Amino acid sequence: MKRLTATNAFRAAFAIVSIAALATALASCGSPSPRKIADRNGMVFGLAIKAGDIYTPETVKIMKSHFNLIVPEDSMKWVNIRPKKDFWNWSDMDAMVDFAEKNRMRIKGHTFLWQDQNGPYVHSLKTREEAVELLTDHITTIMTRYKGRISEYDVANEVFNEDGTLRDTIWYRLIGDDFLDVAFKAARAADPDAKLILCDYNTEYAGTAKGDASYELVKEMKARGVPVDGVAFQLHCMAELPFNEEAIRENIRRFHAMGVSCSFSEVDVRVKLPLDEVNTAQQNNVYERLAAIARTEPGAKSLILWGLSDKGSWIPRAFPGFGSANIFDKDMKKKPAYYALMKGLSGK
Ligand code: G3I
Repeated sequence: MKRLTATNAFRAAFAIVSIAALATALASCGSPSPRKIADRNGMVFGLAIKAGDIYTPETVKIMKSHFNLIVPEDSMKWVNIRPKKDFWNWSDMDAMVDFAEKNRMRIKGHTFLWQDQNGPYVHSLKTREEAVELLTDHITTIMTRYKGRISEYDVANEVFNEDGTLRDTIWYRLIGDDFLDVAFKAARAADPDAKLILCDYNTEYAGTAKGDASYELVKEMKARGVPVDGVAFQLHCMAELPFNEEAIRENIRRFHAMGVSCSFSEVDVRVKLPLDEVNTAQQNNVYERLAAIARTEPGAKSLILWGLSDKGSWIPRAFPGFGSANIFDKDMKKKPAYYALMKGLSGK
């Protein structure tokens, strides 16, 4: 266990007492559901789900009472939905779209232009023409199938390096500087009513190389008429790192000023294990502040959790030694982070 300084100990004790008070308040009868709170605050409150989640009664119950949007964590990724160039696997996405409609939820698509999880045939593309044709066909086929049923899409994902230059991917390499224009224009043509989003990590702060590069790129895209409607900040956070609320708010406001909305689109807050009082309080703080920012910034209003419980989480695979990133534990018990998030969401 970490050593507590006097200040940290006070902060941790205070946070745990106030979260406990909130838990008691929420447990009292008559509290509106998180989904109702989000609706009332004009917010998207969403959850990334696996294909099997819609068949798991416990998860379904939580989804229905908590979230007004779902996003496929993996089911729409290229290799999953189109494992071979001429073979489409629609079953998981069709079922998710039906589930969302039946439960009056919105559904977000994730994702088309990405460097990961592409079918092998994508990596054997040789020319700009081939790449434009395949990417356009991919986007058009999916968005036409779900036209009017899927409300928003991460059209492109993770296009930046940490220094703000564009990542060397098969799409950028073959198509060239207008690779994003090609993707976003194809998406707009396929479903003019869907919201089109550029998604990335480490782009949430104004004043960082990647954050500023993303802002400048979107500004240029807008100036040349490319239909980009929103940016998504993934926000896979680490509890122990400093959290710069002002830099996130500043970033949201500058995008909002040019008519581009922001979303916190893959939120989880990992901690260096084991959990203790200090990192629990840090984790609570990040969840609460993110929800409060999303609630109070007119240019944001959207927070999507990347998974519900620590069971089956992607974090321990990707970050050995880290975990406990979600708001429910492995036994589907609500964690202090749950109540912290609800506090930020409701403002109470
Ligand atoms: O379903 C198979 C299973 O049958 C097999 O036994 C097992 C063996 O490794 O793999 C399972 O598939 C894994 C899948 O997650 C389902 O859990 C894949 O290997 C694994 O690569 C995949 O990881 C996903 C990762 O993206 C790569 O696509 C994570 O679930 C998903 O959370 C993660 O999400 C990404 C976002 O799309 C973009 N932003 C970053 C974020 C986290 O990496």
